[in-house]
Amino acid sequence: MSFPNRVFSGVQPTGNLHLGNYLGAIRNWVPLQDQAETIFCIVDLHALTAPQDPVLLKTQTREVTAAYIAAGIDPERSIIFNQSAVAAHSELSWLLGCYAPLGWLNRMTQFKEKAGKQRDNAVLGLYAYPVLMAADILLYKGTHVPVGEDQKQHLELARDIAGAFNRRYEVEFFPLPEPQILGAATRVMSLRDGTKKMSKSDASDYSRINMTDDADTVALKIQKAKTDPHPLPDTAAALDGRPEADNLLGIYAALAGQTRDQAVARFAGQPFSSFKRELADLSVSVLGPIGAEMKRLVGDPGHIDKILKRGAERAHAIADKVLADTQDIIGLLKP
Ligand code: TRP
Repeated sequence: MSFPNRVFSGVQPTGNLHLGNYLGAIRNWVPLQDQAETIFCIVDLHALTAPQDPVLLKTQTREVTAAYIAAGIDPERSIIFNQSAVAAHSELSWLLGCYAPLGWLNRMTQFKEKAGKQRDNAVLGLYAYPVLMAADILLYKGTHVPVGEDQKQHLELARDIAGAFNRRYEVEFFPLPEPQILGAATRVMSLRDGTKKMSKSDASDYSRINMTDDADTVALKIQKAKTDPHPLPDTAAALDGRPEADNLLGIYAALAGQTRDQAVARFAGQPFSSFKRELADLSVSVLGPIGAEMKRLVGDPGHIDKILKRGAERAHAIADKVLADTQDIIGLLKP
């Protein structure tokens, strides 16, 4: 059976959105709007798997919404909403959890990393995180899920759960959603350590470029970014073992819409100093207008809330039907 193409993806509202979120995720979603029905969620329920300040959580939910729109996600063509506004996510998550053996969940590397050594202190929500993620996607019969490499394992679990459900009831009800790894710089690394992912939780703000950083801050962070003592190489292969050079050239290529080879050729033999000046100019010219638009949007929370409300209504229309059909297949009585 074939399902119409439907794209679903989401970002957690847990803090500063940075260049990694933009180049690795949000920016790559924009062209998908021309190819399929697109649903972009702010996954606030997933954010609760770590402690969140109640006031900040609301602000950050609006901020991610603003980032989506400023980056080019059109709230008319796409459905933009926050997860908790559609209760069916939680309900389907419970149902799907009943088809997910512990053995599958125990393999999830993200849980192992985040739970750390004190496994007994990890909350149930963190363990069940991938089941909620499967529910997010399957609630809309999502077929394509643009995500970073680190989410591929969760996508596989979503496929496994969908398959287990379909087999149990001998139906072809849920599609098996496919990961879409998009974009030249899917992995943007820290500016302070080219072997670590750029992250909102890094203690140093110099490790990342935030989407709302002003021009001077962006330029300063790039100027201070870690490098190595050699000039830039003339082949991409020579970037092996030079994580900082590799990262900065990758960022340049992604921002310029070039391949890594093109960016390498452009700066071959140059010192970092002149390359960094060009990288700073390019970063400011791409991120400047997006950051400014984000700030403008965030300044009008009422407008953002209207967009989210409308998005939630449209999401409801799809989700409620899929949930009702799921309940019916399972045999839950709707008196
Ligand atoms: N787990 C994803 C991340 O951290 C966020 C997410 C939640 C998601 N639900 C989703 C992504 C559904 C894609 C589809 O990046």
